[in-house]
Amino acid sequence: MFPVESKPNFKFSVKMLTQEDTPITPVSSFSSSHSSPEEGHSVLHIVGKTPLQGHVTVSGAKNSALVLMAGSLLCSGVCRFSNVPSLVDVDRMGEILAALGVKVTKDGKILQLDASHLTESKAPYELVSQLRASFFVTGPLLARLGVARVPLPGGCSIGDRPVDLHVKGLQALGAEVQIEHGMVNAYIKGSRKRLQGARIYLDFPSVGATENIMMAATLAEGETIIENAAQEPEVVDLANFCRSMGAKIQGAGTNRIVIEGVPELHETEYMVVPDRIEAGTFLLAGAITKSEISLSPVVPDHLTAAIAKLKEIGVGVAIDAPDRIRVIPAYEYRGADIETLPFPGFPTDLQAPFMSLLTLADGDSVISETLFENRLQHVAELNRMGADIRVKGNIAIVRGVPKLTGAPVMATDLRASAALVIAGLAADGLTVVKGLHHLDRGYDNLEAKLRGLGANIKRVQEDEAAIESVTVVG
Ligand code: UD1
Repeated sequence: MFPVESKPNFKFSVKMLTQEDTPITPVSSFSSSHSSPEEGHSVLHIVGKTPLQGHVTVSGAKNSALVLMAGSLLCSGVCRFSNVPSLVDVDRMGEILAALGVKVTKDGKILQLDASHLTESKAPYELVSQLRASFFVTGPLLARLGVARVPLPGGCSIGDRPVDLHVKGLQALGAEVQIEHGMVNAYIKGSRKRLQGARIYLDFPSVGATENIMMAATLAEGETIIENAAQEPEVVDLANFCRSMGAKIQGAGTNRIVIEGVPELHETEYMVVPDRIEAGTFLLAGAITKSEISLSPVVPDHLTAAIAKLKEIGVGVAIDAPDRIRVIPAYEYRGADIETLPFPGFPTDLQAPFMSLLTLADGDSVISETLFENRLQHVAELNRMGADIRVKGNIAIVRGVPKLTGAPVMATDLRASAALVIAGLAADGLTVVKGLHHLDRGYDNLEAKLRGLGANIKRVQEDEAAIESVTVVG
């Protein structure tokens, strides 16, 4: 139905499955043009205090794109996505889907996934271990094939990140789930072909568990109700996508989602929602550099908590059009307290970059990270840049300082890397940000977009960086 576009970004090859894998059919395997972490020896050079101006285009949401890609497994046809961000994580999810038999074609922001003929129910460990979101394939595979074998994704630098709520939800839908040798083996019990609708209460409104269960329930027999569901915009985007394939879902965006299962889903075209975290990061970039910049497309309602906190510290935010906002800086900012919470609370994914702004506010701020147990690793790096932050457990106490000074710093996770870039934009002199494989996972061309706004930022090879920093410091 959809024309297969040229695919400049990806290399394709054909792999024969081993005997263990059934059935024996060729599948496309898929690898990206992004550099792997091992190859990633580039660093960012940022010369701070350069004012920004102009407009920036916000990309499609990483966290939507990844789960929509997994959701395409529900459809025995072609799903064509537009506004797909260019990210290492998207490439990796494409590789995982290709390993399951999905035909993956990407051309710029258009991604076409043809899951007509799935050839495999087992996701490969090497790929899953690099991308936690790959666990999203469990629900769709189980619903579509009656079996899913997905390695436990394991923890990551921000915390343990268990999947018990995903597993309990799938069990409630009638799946037998065994976890052995690091592998989640799930299958539909007895002679039934479909999962069974159920009433599921989530102990915590986990985004991933809500999404996995919702996807599985679209093809179940009967009605599923998810109570205490996550209300994040990406959950709503997933529900809208599933609806565009013929799923019957109501209540997404509230804490009670009702899904009436259907026997099958059909082909669709779908546009990924704008990335609220990227948008928030640019609002912070404008605020910290005291620059007026505008952004679109955005959904202002997705940014309510971040905008409220910006206003509380003295930053103006104007909504110029339904999909366009502008940050209006002030001469100085006040400290404020932040607690990360499930949506519509303040997003944990903006905690680190917001902290960078608060380091330069007048007075103290208390930041409580309630979602992930190890998500304050950027503190030590911000302190290397002259910030005054102390950590007690999951709380960071930020005492505002008059200035930050550029320094070599190491990104420890995705949002920490954005925090260091934001800090570097406002610091005196040169900041060198290392560990860019984190940034490339989740920000679509951040430095090019910032350069477009006038920032003095460039990516250089690490050895070149060493020579340059000697020149600058000396
Ligand atoms: C998603 C986002 C991530 C964001 C997070 C919270 C994607 C790809 N990632 O992650 O960027 O920071 O939401 O907004 O969409 N938990 C359990 N058991 C489970 C599942 C979760 O205890 O089975 C806990 C987690 O350890 C964590 C909390 O619940 O402490 C929130 O996690 P969750 O909402 O599931 O986040 P993710 O879906 O992993």
